[in-house]
Amino acid sequence: MNKEKYLVTSALPYANGPLHIGHVAGAYLPADIFVRFQKLLGNDVIYVCGTDEFGAPISIKAESEGVSPREIVDRYHKSIKESFDGLGIEFDNFSGTAREPHKKLAQEFFTNLHDRGFVTQKTTQQWFDTEKQRFLADRYVEGDCPHCGAAGARGDQCDACGKLIDAVTLKNPVSKISGSQPVIKETSHWYLNLPKFESELKAWLSTKTFWKDNVLNFINNFLHDGLLERAITRDTDWGVPVPLENAEGKVLYVWFDAPIGYISSTIEWAEKIGQPERWKDYWLDPKTKLIHFIGKDNIIFHTIFFPSFLMEQDKKYVLPHDVPANEFLNLEGRKMSTSKNWTVWVNDFLQYFDGEYLRYYLASNAPETKDSDFYWKEFQLAVNSDLANILGNLANRVFAFSKKYFAGSIKRPVKLSDLSKKVLKEAYDLTEEVKSCYQTYQVRKVTKLCIDIARSGNKYFDETQPWKAVKTEPEKAAETLYVCAELLRLVSVVFFPVIPKRIKKLRQLLSIKAEFQWDDIDEKIDEYQIGEIAPLFRKIEDSEIQVQLDMLKKGNEELPKPEHKPLISYEDFAKLEFRIVKILEADNIPKSKKLLKLKVDVGNGEERSVVAGISEYYKPAEMIGKKVPMLINLQPRTVMGVESQAMILAAHDEGKLTILVPEKEVNEGSEVS
Ligand code: 2FM
Ligand code: ZN
Repeated sequence: MNKEKYLVTSALPYANGPLHIGHVAGAYLPADIFVRFQKLLGNDVIYVCGTDEFGAPISIKAESEGVSPREIVDRYHKSIKESFDGLGIEFDNFSGTAREPHKKLAQEFFTNLHDRGFVTQKTTQQWFDTEKQRFLADRYVEGDCPHCGAAGARGDQCDACGKLIDAVTLKNPVSKISGSQPVIKETSHWYLNLPKFESELKAWLSTKTFWKDNVLNFINNFLHDGLLERAITRDTDWGVPVPLENAEGKVLYVWFDAPIGYISSTIEWAEKIGQPERWKDYWLDPKTKLIHFIGKDNIIFHTIFFPSFLMEQDKKYVLPHDVPANEFLNLEGRKMSTSKNWTVWVNDFLQYFDGEYLRYYLASNAPETKDSDFYWKEFQLAVNSDLANILGNLANRVFAFSKKYFAGSIKRPVKLSDLSKKVLKEAYDLTEEVKSCYQTYQVRKVTKLCIDIARSGNKYFDETQPWKAVKTEPEKAAETLYVCAELLRLVSVVFFPVIPKRIKKLRQLLSIKAEFQWDDIDEKIDEYQIGEIAPLFRKIEDSEIQVQLDMLKKGNEELPKPEHKPLISYEDFAKLEFRIVKILEADNIPKSKKLLKLKVDVGNGEERSVVAGISEYYKPAEMIGKKVPMLINLQPRTVMGVESQAMILAAHDEGKLTILVPEKEVNEGSEVS
């Protein structure tokens, strides 16, 4: 067989806090599953990662605790690694970017780019903390957002309106280090000349037609506005020093050095296995398929920035073959937030439940094409009904029945009935489908298909009624057992990448070999010998879920409760006339970034003109034809020269806006109350 060579990476988690389930769903579990699958196929694959140990959040945390950044990094490196171990996420190497060899390599990358003329120095303005006598990197300064005015906006981004901020435009700035008001001072930084890479990047990206749509869309949007030069150094002392004269107090931007961590982790791996040159077999061989598993917020760094660093080095590095970025995982219908403690920490989870239950649920609910939600109740259901009631039940039936009537021996029948042949054939077909889903990162579908194989076993068991047959035609009951054992064996191969520990147990209970490959799907077993019987999965009680929900709520109690407006009378409410309107036309309003001009039908052909502040979220073409609720008896007002005669209703969620649409088809003009 022609072996493929894969180099798989997962985003380096910041060593500034423990690992939570959102990380796992996006960047680690899908990668671990993919790697386990490739290993089953017998392909040559290594999987590297490590902690991302520089960057402002780490030094801020260190300062706030009065400890060194190194202490923070060591603490969370350990905690994160424990979480991965508990979940069976198995890296070939797990390194950290504060290690000396990594720093040297990152400096080499910078020097190569600098020597080749891709990095230029520029003078800029930056906030300076006069008390601490140091420049403040973007995240060290907070103030009022220059776009929306919200307080507490960081120097790089505003959480309230989601916009990027040029730090020096913050109003009422406060230094996060001293609490004092910083002043603007000149500083100089080195910029990566991204425009110089533009044509090479575009040519390379044009070959990536097979990438996921969400990834390609992101890239196209980004490229649409044209590439800009980008600062790749910062003023702080926690980072990789800029390897140039007169660069004191300057370090490489964390996003410059972090992806190089994939390479330094591979080098560390090669050294650990005593073959220091081995890393080159992966990074410098054009046949290697380099695959980055990441969350959607990291797409540009992996598809534009890192590839551009890789292109201008003294060695010919491979560029990413694929970047199967995932969307986000929400929790109980709300965006996850570590600062608000609205998350599930992996180490906490593992105190209560088996890590494989989380693997299964997160795989079955992976945010592959759109954001998905972790609901504790759904987690319980997934474990109890899919794992315990379907797969676990099939195994228990086979084990218990064979023990009771056949002393645990399940032999291959001389002849199989048509039904048995059909059931087996369908299961074999499903294994083929599972294979192609693994190859295309569709783990949701993988889990469904694996459970479907087990489900077909239960159906077949019920249909053939071995509990009756055993009394009159024992060979028929034996045949049922054999077919079901075969189905369990197939599941044990194809489901292995998702829940490896439980599957090993299943194979042990079936007394089949512990080490196997994908091709062992075709293994011929003459006799299964069932020895010990043990349940594969335990069910999760309602009370256990309640405990988690209570903890989640309690941990979150400090959240400020929304302030409500004073009560109004029903009569006041009844004065508002809401109707479903149909959007007939939508246009941008010149010179306005936020407003769209709409023409709507409010029923019976009556038209209104409406100005809606939605253009950051909706393109005009998307709005045409939509039916939405509007308040139609609001006094008209003129906005940017356009009269607005109604108001669209929209939900405002953590700075994002979503219009509302009726759940079923309704006519325009329908009243809303
Ligand atoms: O977003 C993050 O969590 C970053 N620490 C990911 C870095 S990925 C890579 F490039 F190292
Ligand atoms: Zn803002």
